[in-house]
Amino acid sequence: MSEKATLTIEGKNYDLEITIGSENEKCIDIQQLRDATGYITMDHGFGNTGSCYSAITYVDGDKGILRYRGYPIEEIAEKATFVETAYLVLYGELPKASQLKAFSARLKEHAPLHTNLEHHFSGFPTSAPPMAILSAMLNLVSCFHPEVLDVPTTGAEFDRTASLLLSKVRTIAAFAYRMAGGRPINHPNPNLTYCGNFLHMMFSDPYQEYEVSPVIDKALNLFLVLHADHEQNCSTSTVRVVGSSRANLFSSVAAGVCALWGPLHGGANAAVIEMLEDIKKSGRLPAYYIEKAKDKNDPFKLMGFGHRVYKNFDPRSLILKKQVHDVLEALHLDDDLLDIALQLEQATLQDDYFIKRNLYPNVDFYSGILLRAIGIPLNMYTVMFAIGRMPGWIANWKELHDHKLRISRPRQIYTGHTARSFIPMAQR
Ligand code: SDX
Repeated sequence: MSEKATLTIEGKNYDLEITIGSENEKCIDIQQLRDATGYITMDHGFGNTGSCYSAITYVDGDKGILRYRGYPIEEIAEKATFVETAYLVLYGELPKASQLKAFSARLKEHAPLHTNLEHHFSGFPTSAPPMAILSAMLNLVSCFHPEVLDVPTTGAEFDRTASLLLSKVRTIAAFAYRMAGGRPINHPNPNLTYCGNFLHMMFSDPYQEYEVSPVIDKALNLFLVLHADHEQNCSTSTVRVVGSSRANLFSSVAAGVCALWGPLHGGANAAVIEMLEDIKKSGRLPAYYIEKAKDKNDPFKLMGFGHRVYKNFDPRSLILKKQVHDVLEALHLDDDLLDIALQLEQATLQDDYFIKRNLYPNVDFYSGILLRAIGIPLNMYTVMFAIGRMPGWIANWKELHDHKLRISRPRQIYTGHTARSFIPMAQR
């Protein structure tokens, strides 16, 4: 017998079912609430509202736990490549050697873009934001592969479509970067790894093939692994909402790209670097910016701090902070923005405003410094987040279809004019 919650409205009791997840998360199922009581609930930003049952990623914000399909992020980050992680997020299990070989082969097969697609890049102004290009080109790819428009969510067809998307998102990103700078594009090289191929497409030149250093290849793998999925964040929820209308996978993830772009979400990784550079240029101490962030009359926020779910350290931020040190050391690089970031973090740990609100560094606080060390340009940072998040978006879109979920259609409470008659022009 499942537990019940009792709601009393206008003297009448209503029993609502309680459901409990595999990690003991509890929810009150209100799917019949409006029919039974005439009431809806209100929850701006959906901080208290579950949209789905999901078996992909588990986050415990109080304990700073993140697991992909049950595996702790710390272990995945240390032991898995991004391709292995993408397979795990998509299919639910770590791949056997034969499965990984077949998956990698599909990714290599689908890396090139249709020749006619390449011409579209030259249609963008060189100042076009790469996130706008990415979202547009993801939809455009489906025009050259009409078979993906009504993809089933199982079998060889799904395998092909998911691999095509995972592979081509990387090629589109690199081509967008090359074309923006007036550089010749580098076609994918099937002899390289997923990350190595991306770095080759980004940085090889006609007379100088990019040499993929193991340190950078490992750092990029780690960056993408840490971004692979994160339960029902803004962009993943967007993919689910769009997918719930039975829109195809490509248009659903193109919408996810647009949601990710915002500075409160994936756009924060670039905003952190801009903030650190402003602090460096200003010559002011970090304490000045801490006070600005606390000032309710000042719109300035400490970018890379705070999280809707993590009320403790974001485990990804801890891993990235260590990785940044290791990469800078291995590459004999120095980055004074890292020193400023460390000072900011230290200052917030002793500041009541941040402590009381559980504001800790999130995944975006150190990720930008890692991307700088790898040599990724600032305007590509959120694109890198999108490449990393692609497995999570695809897996959530698949799970939505597997569970045959209804179209997303929230309700509202109307606060406008009550009924009134039309006013002829002469009387307005
Ligand atoms: C990502 O959801 C996910 O899982 C996202 C993500 C993923 O993997 O998909 O983890 C990736 O998007 C990480 C977040 C990146 N964004 C930023 O770093 C932008 C800066 N952070 C804030 O904008 C904010 O913390 C959010 C958007 C991340 C969370 O917003 P919430 O949950 O709506 O929290 P809130 O704005 O209501 O803040 C609660 C309080 C407020 O103060 P009071 O009104 O209580 O006095 O904390 C304050 C806020 O003013 N606050 C901050 C702050 N973040 C929150 N004050 C200063 N600086 C900040 N960064």
